[in-house]
Amino acid sequence: MTYDTISVKPMTPHIGGLVSGIDLNRPLAPAVARDLHAALMEHQVLFFRDQKLTHATQKVFGENFGRLHISVGGDGTNSKQLSDYPEVRALHFDKDSKSVSGNEMWHTDQSCLEVPPMGTILYIHTVPPKGGGDTLFASMYAAYDALSPAMKRYLEGMTALHDGAGAFARTATNALPITEQPVIAKHPVTGRKLLYVNPTFTTRLCGVDRDESEAVLGFLYRHCALPDFHVRFRWEPHSIAFWDNRCTHHLALWDYYPHTRSGFRIQITGTDRVIPA
Ligand code: SIN
Repeated sequence: MTYDTISVKPMTPHIGGLVSGIDLNRPLAPAVARDLHAALMEHQVLFFRDQKLTHATQKVFGENFGRLHISVGGDGTNSKQLSDYPEVRALHFDKDSKSVSGNEMWHTDQSCLEVPPMGTILYIHTVPPKGGGDTLFASMYAAYDALSPAMKRYLEGMTALHDGAGAFARTATNALPITEQPVIAKHPVTGRKLLYVNPTFTTRLCGVDRDESEAVLGFLYRHCALPDFHVRFRWEPHSIAFWDNRCTHHLALWDYYPHTRSGFRIQITGTDRVIPA
């Protein structure tokens, strides 16, 4: 698809578009915001280069696509909410980072919430000197489409528990959310079917015994990890990734210790519960 106001170069057959011809530090004209939203629906994750955002301009950019979400969790060091900008989180790793963050496992952001965020905008300003810290994104449309007809029939109508304990147990001060979500979901805008389980939050399939749940989820996680459904983004200073959290998984590599990778993340509030297909 071509757009009137922006150029978008597809990065793989299934997922990822590199956007050019735009300055995200300036307020977006309504037609540009509409084109970006349409491109996000088509490519599921959009990438931008050479954008020096402030916290204020990152927020203004995000607000084109909905209300901003104040995220829970994070360990307060590698992932820290900013006191002046509570919608913005600093993601920072360096020689003093003691442990991996949890972001290096495949996940959909906060799928344990009744209404998970619609999308995330991650701005990375500092990257390791030799590269590294790439983020991988997986299309859950493509993962669903590639399932066998028999597996699609088996999963249709099933639900699974998504539990915040795995990701947030170390830092949470409130009760950890656990939500039953459909295994095959329908995207609220595109109407496409997608696979909605991820190894960070999904703990078990409902209505089958534990062994069966583990075997099927194990199969689905291996299936979603097939490179055929992925795009891998190599960060440069001042790059942005904007992903649709409703139809993608992602993980961040932590292969650059003791170097520094640093940036800021905002999220856009979801508008509805996950819709069963
Ligand atoms: C995240 O998982 O939200 C952050 C991903 C990244 O740091 O690339």
